[in-house]
Amino acid sequence: MNKNEAVQEIERLSLELSEHNHLYYVESRPLISDYDFDMLLNKLQDLEDEFPDLASENSPTKRVGGDITKKFESVEHKYAMLSLSNTYSKDEIEEWVARALKMVESDIEYVCELKYDGCAIGIQYVEGQLKQAITRGDGAKGENVTANVRTIRTVPLTLKNDFPKDVEIRGEIFFPLENFHRLNEKRREQGEPEFANPRNTASGTLKMQDSKVVAERGLDCFLYGVYGVDDQAEGHYELVQKASDWGFKIPPVSLRYIEKTSSIEGIMNFIHYWDEKRKELPFEIDGVVIKVNNYDQQEILGFTAKSPRWAIAYKFKAERVSTILEEVTYQVGRTGAVTPVANLKPVQLGGTTVKRASLHNADQIEKLGLYLGDRVYVEKGGEIIPKIVGVDLDDRIANSEEVKFIHACPECHAELIRHEGEVQHYCPNEIGCPPQMKGKVEHFIGRKAMDIDGLGAETVDALFEANLISNSADLYSLTFDQVVNLERMADKSANNLIDGIEASKKIPFERVLFGLGIRMVGETVAKKLAKYFKSLDALSVATLDELIAVDEIGDKIALSLQDFFLNEGSRQIIQKLKDAGVQLMIEEQEGGSNRWEGLSFVVSGVFDAFSRDELKATIEQNGGKNVSSISKKTSFVVAGDKMGPSKLEKATKLEVTILTEQDFIKMMNRDD
Ligand code: IVH
Repeated sequence: MNKNEAVQEIERLSLELSEHNHLYYVESRPLISDYDFDMLLNKLQDLEDEFPDLASENSPTKRVGGDITKKFESVEHKYAMLSLSNTYSKDEIEEWVARALKMVESDIEYVCELKYDGCAIGIQYVEGQLKQAITRGDGAKGENVTANVRTIRTVPLTLKNDFPKDVEIRGEIFFPLENFHRLNEKRREQGEPEFANPRNTASGTLKMQDSKVVAERGLDCFLYGVYGVDDQAEGHYELVQKASDWGFKIPPVSLRYIEKTSSIEGIMNFIHYWDEKRKELPFEIDGVVIKVNNYDQQEILGFTAKSPRWAIAYKFKAERVSTILEEVTYQVGRTGAVTPVANLKPVQLGGTTVKRASLHNADQIEKLGLYLGDRVYVEKGGEIIPKIVGVDLDDRIANSEEVKFIHACPECHAELIRHEGEVQHYCPNEIGCPPQMKGKVEHFIGRKAMDIDGLGAETVDALFEANLISNSADLYSLTFDQVVNLERMADKSANNLIDGIEASKKIPFERVLFGLGIRMVGETVAKKLAKYFKSLDALSVATLDELIAVDEIGDKIALSLQDFFLNEGSRQIIQKLKDAGVQLMIEEQEGGSNRWEGLSFVVSGVFDAFSRDELKATIEQNGGKNVSSISKKTSFVVAGDKMGPSKLEKATKLEVTILTEQDFIKMMNRDD
């Protein structure tokens, strides 16, 4: 393909991809499969690799991230980013309405919107292209987080239809609850502390250096303001609808996310509806926002120093009750993380009885300054577990005991440690601390790891009680006679259990590795490590540098792996697993080999006997590496029909060996 053809093809593919992206993420009605979408995206990526100067900064390929921002530059806002004044009652709303009516001297239409609980963003579009995205900052200046915002699928990179030439969109970036819970689940699996709430996590994510991580987390954005084009519509509501034509995700009228009304009753009706229904939303809100719709009226009302007079927030009261703090206990998790839990005098809150609240960590206890017997305020916000938000100092009992974080593990009495820069305390006694020991076995037998039939948490408990096991490897020396003697264990279930353990010896290495429960080694990391090192022996002797060389393995994971392999207890477990015949190395797939190790291939064009993906998979199965663009280091170009002339030219110029499909098949069938 020559450059002119590439220009056209890139434009065509970009348009097509951006349309499919919009249909999938904004309209929720995809027309093509994920696979077909990925194929189109790969095609575009290949072309951009071949013609790097044709790759636009708003190309759909930017959605997956990759750009790193070392330092977020501080940028001035074109329009100051103000905040809203808050109200909490009907009286205050009535006052606000009366004042507005007095100033405007005519009827007013109001727009009611949700107050999304995330972080504000201003996105500038010039000539229909996303140019810059800035956080709120101090209202006058914010941080340039453009690369990260480009990964948010509901934010258009290029505008459609009759878009204005220069416009700024204001909106809220938030964490959809489903994605937030998924992220925490992953962190739990990897033994990392979970994030406390979606709002802080959204703003933390937006300021991460690696946009690829941002892309994976799945943030979302709703727009709530259009700046610089007041002349395009009579009022805010109408302009928001118009922005939908330009490609933005706007709050749906059908779900009452946005509504127009002319009366206080209408406003209160909206407020009451959402105060009740907000629990059912797939994201968090902390109130609603009421705005005067008409732009001329907005102008008359103007601004105070901090906020517009034409808008006001109504904040929902977080459900809060007070009760007595009876005791603080500590839970030890599978990874040894110690979490303080407040045991409370039972109290009704939001329809359930609350007896316990998480205190998160030592810092949180210190911040609250708790004493046993204190009357504490408990709130149920967006989080599922209620939290203590304050103490009633007037109600403190004289001479009561201050709550101090423990120094020793409540289960095994080992001295706790706290890594530098982390908030969580850990019990380091991995192999002798009962909840860690049991937790590790439960993780090992789990569905995503060894998936052992007939074995659940209860049986694990019983096996520990009977002193039959003290770690995962001990499972492999259990006998039928030992198991059948356990309480509530019939012949059949004992047989099942022994068979299940036997069958688990066939579970592939990557899942065994995940099952070992090494801190920070979740499913994906285990897969990567297994593929790269191929055996536990090789992995266990890898140096830090060798570990970090693996895609997506950073310092922290590398150190955690080394800690694990240095530990005498882990070594014993590994030896026992090895003796039992558990898979501790990758089984070569049929037809697979290592013979192309160290060789890199560029596959281009269309083939007869293989699809491109099959061909690439064959290369990987034989230890070769697929790369997308030709360089001096490329070992082979596998050239199919319709391979672009420029690729051919480049391969010839750099003297890279070109293989036809037949050459490739011959090379594959050679017995070397
Ligand atoms: S309008 C002049 N509408 O709430 C301010 N803000 O305290 C105009 N927010 O920083 C803001 N949902 O991040 C507006 N539907 C909504 C909103 C909303 C959430 C946030 C926004 C702003 C803060 C105001």
